[in-house]
Amino acid sequence: MRYFLTLYILAIVTLIGVAGFRGDISRKPPIEVFPDMDRQMKLRPQEPNAVFGNERSSQPYVEGTIFRGMPYQDTPINTGRISGTTNWVETNPIELTVERMKRGQQRYNIHCLPCHGASGDGKGITSKYGMVAVANFHDARLVSMTDGEIFNTITHGKNLMGSYGANINIEDRWAVIGYVRALQRSRLATLDEVPEAMKAALEKE
Ligand code: HEC
Repeated sequence: MRYFLTLYILAIVTLIGVAGFRGDISRKPPIEVFPDMDRQMKLRPQEPNAVFGNERSSQPYVEGTIFRGMPYQDTPINTGRISGTTNWVETNPIELTVERMKRGQQRYNIHCLPCHGASGDGKGITSKYGMVAVANFHDARLVSMTDGEIFNTITHGKNLMGSYGANINIEDRWAVIGYVRALQRSRLATLDEVPEAMKAALEKE
């Protein structure tokens, strides 16, 4: 113990002797522990640089560049909310054509089906690997949920579900919602909605 204390004090004295007290002014250059971090090969802004044809290190923005973190324009299509409010839009703000529904189905099958299942009942393949409590789109709560809120869930995720905003572009997200609505509708149709010609066949069963 005695040796330890002596060595300890010696070590402190040596350290202060070499490095000095905090705030001490010195004319000597600072010690560089990792010199390659202090002196790097890099392009400094506004300096000539031969790599580019125009010999400038700072290149102009590529056309269409937007700033990182720039807020979305506050429109229902971008946010799923009524502009200037935090209220969800009730219905899909983009027109749902047959092509778009097909696109929605295809995107759904790629991005949502593994968890939510082909029919939207929340029993996708992941449920066999321990992912339980995946939302069932046929729950009354999700049937009556606004399109805007579903858009928000796809964009940012919710509780256990991750966000798909980076994987699915805005237009495709609305197309997926159109398809989710079709899945829901497939279980909610009433006999009155069946065309007359086919009704008889159904009624027989
Ligand atoms: C990795 C699995 C997974 C994938 C893929 C996935 N979800 Fe989910 N989703 C979940 C889980 C788990 C929940 C339940 C979240 C909770 O409340 O904990 C959920 C919940 C939801 C809800 C209900 C949110 C709420 O407010 O209760 C919606 C709507 C939804 N998902 C839509 C989608 C759509 C559309 C896609 C495809 C773009 C998708 N999900 C892809 C796992 C997934």
